[in-house]
Amino acid sequence: MTTLDLEAPRKAAPGPAHDDVLLHVEGLSKHYSTRVGAFGQTAQTVYALDDFSLDVMRGETLSVVGESGCGKSTAGFTLLHLHAPTAGKVIYEGTDIARLNDEQLRPFRRKLQVVFQDPYSTLNPRMTVGEALAEPLLFHKIATKAQVKDQIAQLLADVGLPERFAGSYPHQLSGGQRQRVVIARALACKPEFLVCDEAISALDVSVQAQIINLFQDLQERYGLTYLFIAHDLAVVRHISDRVVVMYLGRPAELAPKDKLFANPLHPYTRALLSAVPEPDPVGERSRKRQVLMGDVPSPANPPSGCRFHTRCPVAVERCSREVPEWREALPTQWVACHRAPGGPEPLAEGP
Ligand SMILES: Nc1ncnc2c1ncn2[C@@H]1O[C@H](COP(=O)(O)OP(=O)(O)OP(=O)(O)O)[C@@H](O)[C@H]1O
Ligand code: SF4
Ligand SMILES: [Mg+2]
Repeated sequence: MTTLDLEAPRKAAPGPAHDDVLLHVEGLSKHYSTRVGAFGQTAQTVYALDDFSLDVMRGETLSVVGESGCGKSTAGFTLLHLHAPTAGKVIYEGTDIARLNDEQLRPFRRKLQVVFQDPYSTLNPRMTVGEALAEPLLFHKIATKAQVKDQIAQLLADVGLPERFAGSYPHQLSGGQRQRVVIARALACKPEFLVCDEAISALDVSVQAQIINLFQDLQERYGLTYLFIAHDLAVVRHISDRVVVMYLGRPAELAPKDKLFANPLHPYTRALLSAVPEPDPVGERSRKRQVLMGDVPSPANPPSGCRFHTRCPVAVERCSREVPEWREALPTQWVACHRAPGGPEPLAEGP
């Protein structure tokens, strides 16, 4: 199996340098109204995100993990107000940006950017790289026409591409080069916060490592804050300061990565992490895999109480009745589980 050749993590775990809230997210929810049936005759509500609450610390990499369809992208998009929230707050620079209209959002948009999995969805195939980079520079009045050429060269250098690429079209670049251009385009806006939604998933493993290292370099150089949405837990373990685990639209657990991987408190986190190979061969041999029974229920009809109760190996009667409180069960370790430490039905040996 090919493995990622990543540079050793250089960042410290969140400490005093990170104790600065960039975004305060409270009760953020997004429900999509859709129509189903052969002729779209039935209205349906998809509870894609519910009661998502956390603080994003300045300068951190906060990863979001969970099975496909659990609401990771919805969380990222709703946080950036690319999708209007159904409820909740996102406080940024003292303003609740969840309530703003497009006009009011404009000054904030520049500082909150997104990088998607597929560079083609971001890059116009008829624009050269230079034109694609000039657009945000001029739109946000970051550069005058006279300054644009130098700034494009600087942006390309920042992402490790030579200046001559300014004249290339997206189809003339490799996947990794295209993703570097997308990152440069986001950087052109001088952002503070970047949502990276599966930003490396479509790339070859060797290229993934280069882009991860680039993200880390840019973070150090420009003090960026990342919401890193990913399904590869080995990458998440490498890049994150903290990790939030989601299940069916709700946060299940949030913790600094070392605590999460060493002592997961939520039964779903345990099952999810049990599939990650241990770097240490002795630990790998003694590791017990937990296979979750049953399919993920539909977010259009989520289970009552704890949404995980239909698959949870340690569920009790209360679990189908009461939504577990989202609480700091242990210092810096947040969890939504009745059976986690300090909850109403704690397990003797922990969940
Ligand atoms: N525009 C939409 N209209 C209706 N339902 C939607 C819409 N966007 C997402 N959903 C639904 O909301 C739920 C969460 O979707 P989301 O894309 O956030 O999941 P995800 O965790 O990012 O999944 P993946 O890992 O596959 O990218 C899914 O059930 C999805 O089908
Ligand atoms: S609240 Fe109950 S069902 Fe939900 S994760 Fe905890 S033990 Fe399992
Ligand atoms: Mg997604």
